[in-house]
Amino acid sequence: MNEKPKHFTLQGTWPWESKSATIGSEDFMNRVVVANDHGAVELAQTLIAHLKERGFEVNYLGVASADSVDYPDMAKEAATEYLSGGYAFGVLLCGTGIGISISANKVDGIRCALPQNSFAAEMARCHNDANFIAFGGRIDYPEDPVRMLDAYIDATFEGGRHQRRIDKMMGLQD
Ligand code: RB5
Repeated sequence: MNEKPKHFTLQGTWPWESKSATIGSEDFMNRVVVANDHGAVELAQTLIAHLKERGFEVNYLGVASADSVDYPDMAKEAATEYLSGGYAFGVLLCGTGIGISISANKVDGIRCALPQNSFAAEMARCHNDANFIAFGGRIDYPEDPVRMLDAYIDATFEGGRHQRRIDKMMGLQD
């Protein structure tokens, strides 16, 4: 039997007991880290509920009140937790999704996408192999953000020339 991961914080089945996640080649991992600032409390709860319905274990590091917090702090905490290992992907939210995604992308190893619609969300995985997806709680999306999240989750990284471009992209941090 595997040891319980130290950062596995929420109730439910263990990653090796559930095959519900299908993201990328990491289908043994069903854990997701989620964080938000005060600008996206409601949308964060909506997406968390959906993730749980889909069988994901959610490690929630966000705020559930309107009290003001700083989105770089939320991004840093979630990115650090993701990089500790065992997560399929992460979800970040702020008022627009802009500040928290820019912040996350400052952390080495993070590729946080801020999709405009389901197509962009799907491509974020297929072409960019984004390990985080961001949303804005104050944005009027042309589609339900839940469907956008699904498009990202259900997509698969295509590799090949896209891996070459990602390698170049990540090399920009060196
Ligand atoms: C907070 O008021 C707001 O600036 C933040 O949630 C986000 O929209 C920043 O990009």
